[in-house]
Amino acid sequence: MRVLVTGGAGYVGSHTVLALIEAGHTAVIADNFSNSNRAVLERLESIADVPIECHEVELTDDEATDRLFSAGDIDAVIHCAGLKAVGESVSAPLEYYRNNLDSTLTVAGAMAKHGVRRLVFSSSATVYGAGHTSPLSEDSWPLESSNPYGQTKVIIERMLTDIAAANTGWKVALLRYFNPVGAHSSGLIGEDPRGIPNNLMPFVAQVAVGRRERLTVHGDDYDTADGTGERDYIHVVDLAAGHVAAVDHLDSMATDVRAFNLGTGRPTSVLGLVGAFERASGQAVPYVVGPRRDGDLAVAYADPSRARAELGWAAARSIEEMCADTWRWQQANPTGMSSQLVS
Ligand code: WQD
Repeated sequence: MRVLVTGGAGYVGSHTVLALIEAGHTAVIADNFSNSNRAVLERLESIADVPIECHEVELTDDEATDRLFSAGDIDAVIHCAGLKAVGESVSAPLEYYRNNLDSTLTVAGAMAKHGVRRLVFSSSATVYGAGHTSPLSEDSWPLESSNPYGQTKVIIERMLTDIAAANTGWKVALLRYFNPVGAHSSGLIGEDPRGIPNNLMPFVAQVAVGRRERLTVHGDDYDTADGTGERDYIHVVDLAAGHVAAVDHLDSMATDVRAFNLGTGRPTSVLGLVGAFERASGQAVPYVVGPRRDGDLAVAYADPSRARAELGWAAARSIEEMCADTWRWQQANPTGMSSQLVS
């Protein structure tokens, strides 16, 4: 199939593009490069050893987005484009609702106009909010996130459910990511956050490579084995494989819309991840314990059984592999990709 990957130059999107190509699909990238680097394209083509079609486009622009479909040869869409920083969404909710909702409505509108009826949506486990107990099931109800970013995912899931119900033949998979980490084994692409990383793994990697002095552990008084927060970290290459399994599954999906948890089902604590990273990198990761971070849950991890049963997909890589692959990427790109000259 010819699959349009919106946000295809981003962290998850770029790994998904590679997985699609490796599975025999053709991937087309649409990205505005607001949170990704143009250097990714050259690196993707180097890894895949094929040219990759890429369009720089604002997905909130109806005409520009329509042109992506005008050639009439898109079979399916994997919609990864969107703003995704929890903290930023709290201080800039208008930007988050405008961008994430508008871009999705624009893409869905172009799909309807051009008869494209297959969609995989990049959702997030943050839709489960604080009201449910791990392991988290897709049947949890109601969905309610504690931050505007997560709320955009809740609302978009509902929008796509209603659109699919009204448009004959649509099939939509809602992929609820847990905590994507790691990098392609080449070390050429990986998570490249701008500024101070919000998320644990990139922060740990930047401490290990000497870019940051120490990690602040956000609280060690949670009701967990070592007192620090537990999460379901999933290797981004496993996550990308989940997208391919989902897009291949759409035609045979029994319902118009189906949510799938993409996680390992195994929680790892902050200190557990720090220890794994130190072993994988051979580098010390000094830390101090600070106060809890507002909005953080103590524990969040997936029940991944539906994806295994229905997509035939399961995460394969260990936390040690996640750390080793992250370290290889960080060593090769100590100040990230943006500082690298684009040839
Ligand atoms: C993990 C653990 C922190 C940083 C969020 C979004 C989710 C997805 C991933 C987009 C927690 C602790 C972190 C640090 C720390 N985002 N921590 N020091 O909050 O589980 O999930 O990012 O798709 O949707 O909700 O991820 O990596 O920020 O935190 O101690 O400097 O690490 O308290 O326990 P989180 P995270």
